Amino acid sequence: MKWTDDKVNELERLTEKGFTAKQIASIMEISVKSAEEARHRYGILGNGDWVKWGDDKVNRLQELVYKGFSNEAISKILSKEFDESIEGKSVENARQRHGVLKHCLEKDSEIKLYDKAIHLRPDNYMVCCDHHSPYHSERWINRSLQIADVMGIEKCIIPGDLIDNDFIKFYPNPRVEDNSTFDREAKGTRPVFEALDYFKEVILIKGNHEDRVNRATDGKIQARHLFEIIGREIWERKFRYSVYDKLFVGDKWIIVHPRSYSQISASVAVRLAEKFHRHVLNAHGHFFAMRYDRSGQYMGVDLGGMYDMRKVGYVNLKTTTHPLWNNGFAVITADNKVHLFHENTDWKYYGVD
Ligand SMILES: [Fe+2]
Ligand SMILES: [Fe+2]
Repeated sequence: MKWTDDKVNELERLTEKGFTAKQIASIMEISVKSAEEARHRYGILGNGDWVKWGDDKVNRLQELVYKGFSNEAISKILSKEFDESIEGKSVENARQRHGVLKHCLEKDSEIKLYDKAIHLRPDNYMVCCDHHSPYHSERWINRSLQIADVMGIEKCIIPGDLIDNDFIKFYPNPRVEDNSTFDREAKGTRPVFEALDYFKEVILIKGNHEDRVNRATDGKIQARHLFEIIGREIWERKFRYSVYDKLFVGDKWIIVHPRSYSQISASVAVRLAEKFHRHVLNAHGHFFAMRYDRSGQYMGVDLGGMYDMRKVGYVNLKTTTHPLWNNGFAVITADNKVHLFHENTDWKYYGVD
């Protein structure tokens, strides 16, 4: 029969209504073969019994597309291989229907994606870092607990260097008469764990000092193994640990223990704020500072730290031009405000000794 526009439109209408080839043939008073050929020829797709492409045909289609064959060439190959009439238009429709694209790379499902940094919901958080336990400051930890108590803070974020891992560092220890051991560090760190047990949850991210054990043992022993030895019960009950050196809070904050360092306080924090378009709470530098970035939108905060500088050998035994350190910590609130605590904070205002 001659396929006029009216006939093709009728064929399309019936196909869209879900009629099978046999039903269409009956309605239009034509043979099933004629209906089938016309649907292929005019690229009319439907849910009919003979339109559906099975996995084997789709896979072969994908293969031929990757090899660079045209739709016309593919139609000939598939017609022959599957022993049926497949037009070029039908191939084109099948490619669209099954998402078979010429430049579509298959996903490598086995390759690791580094997109697992922690994202926390906005909430009230104590943020304190760089305890360098057992060289921590009891005074500053006590201050942070008092502030948490006064402000009703139940969650604590520690952006790295909770433990010093002095015993496993690579470079020579200047305190040759007083080399550190893991036993001593573990004993000195346990009280810090007990203090942190005050919080309902502690979120720790990895600093370069946590990383020391990993580097020294070629990854065979991780900081988390040491933390388990130091205080397994509190570690398992309270801590959440990330090997990423950053975490995100809502869409306003990034809290980080970066590889970057500058002797200019707030410099790294502000540059990270400009990079991530978030307020930055920055550990690692051991300075206390706050400065807005160039846009005037984002704060770069150096958090100071919870160390006791008098306990850190290399700072005191070796003299450099590096700036001295400041203690400090911060509280961020669910409504994205920040409270900064440092040596010149009016502690009495907060009801703290
Ligand atoms: Fe540090
Ligand atoms: Fe650090």
